Amino acid sequence: MIVVDDLVKVYGRRRAVDHVSFEVEKGEIVGFLGPNGAGKTTTMRILTCFLPATGGRAQVAGFDIVDDSREVRRRLGYLPENVPLYLDLTVDQYLTYMGKLKGLDRSRLQTRLNEVVANCGLEHRRRDIIGKLSRGYRQRVGLAQALIHDPEVVILDEPTASLDPAQIREVRDYIKSLKGNHTLILSTHILPEVELTCDRVLMINNGRIVANDTPGNLRNLASSTQVLTVEVRGAVSAAQAALQPITPITRTSVVSDGLPVSGGARLELETSADVRGDVARALVGAGLDLLRLDQQTKSLEDIFVELTTEEPAAAAQEVA
Ligand SMILES: Nc1ncnc2c1ncn2[C@@H]1O[C@H](COP(=O)(O)OP(=O)(O)OP(=O)(O)O)[C@@H](O)[C@H]1O
Ligand SMILES: [Mg+2]
Repeated sequence: MIVVDDLVKVYGRRRAVDHVSFEVEKGEIVGFLGPNGAGKTTTMRILTCFLPATGGRAQVAGFDIVDDSREVRRRLGYLPENVPLYLDLTVDQYLTYMGKLKGLDRSRLQTRLNEVVANCGLEHRRRDIIGKLSRGYRQRVGLAQALIHDPEVVILDEPTASLDPAQIREVRDYIKSLKGNHTLILSTHILPEVELTCDRVLMINNGRIVANDTPGNLRNLASSTQVLTVEVRGAVSAAQAALQPITPITRTSVVSDGLPVSGGARLELETSADVRGDVARALVGAGLDLLRLDQQTKSLEDIFVELTTEEPAAAAQEVA
């Protein structure tokens, strides 16, 4: 339903989208997850034909975003990051206008209007002037206009931003109810949100896709990795040498040397198995005092932070 092939967007000397490729199947809900400035909005604006790409191609609902942009727009509902609302119209007037713009006839428009107003929690605000609505309500109006024509493909840029907790839950349920008949891409910074709503997560950092998997698989990847925090008193090099033969340890890093109270060093070990016994024996066997040893399972959040903080943001984005 959505095919993105080697998309690039360069702003001046900054590469906001850096050779991004992915596909979204019909009926899927895919979450874009990434830190500020990762390129989520830029990618969405390109897919919705609001912004030309510097390179690469994309198809939405079988149509090329450049050659057939009219067809793409007809099949697409878009909630932008900043919704351009007409502030002096009422909610009903605005949604009616947007529905007409999207080609709905009078009776269909009436039906859809009632549906989206109910689904977006706007029943009691239909006659209110948009300019006088709170931020969260404006967000709901934005969501309603994206869905008024019941589009095949829905692209939502942070749909739950600025909503209250009850409304977040309602919008989340509503998004889930669109699954199957609609194909959705949404962006968010909220990790639990992707787990609760999305079939697949595309993690984006510095304009590149750093992970593309189901939330379940990413969680398994996370939980199969243990992080051991070890504190020893003695030479760090001796500790590192003692730990070296323990093969399940995939990474050793010195967090600090010369701890304030104990004077010892703290190391962090990443391992795929429970090696606490081996670690304790190896360190004590090497003549070091073992001051602390504890084990933690990685969370999805750890994986997210790791994947999105590896490179210094600006440096990686500069176009050579
Ligand atoms: N119109 C523009 N002109 C120049 N640079 C831009 C423009 N729009 C975005 N950028 C840059 O492109 C990069 C990606 O921005 P983008 O808005 O796509 O990020 P994002 O992932 O949506 O971030 P956020 O989570 O903050 O919404 C950033 O470095 C940003 O500064
Ligand atoms: Mg954004």
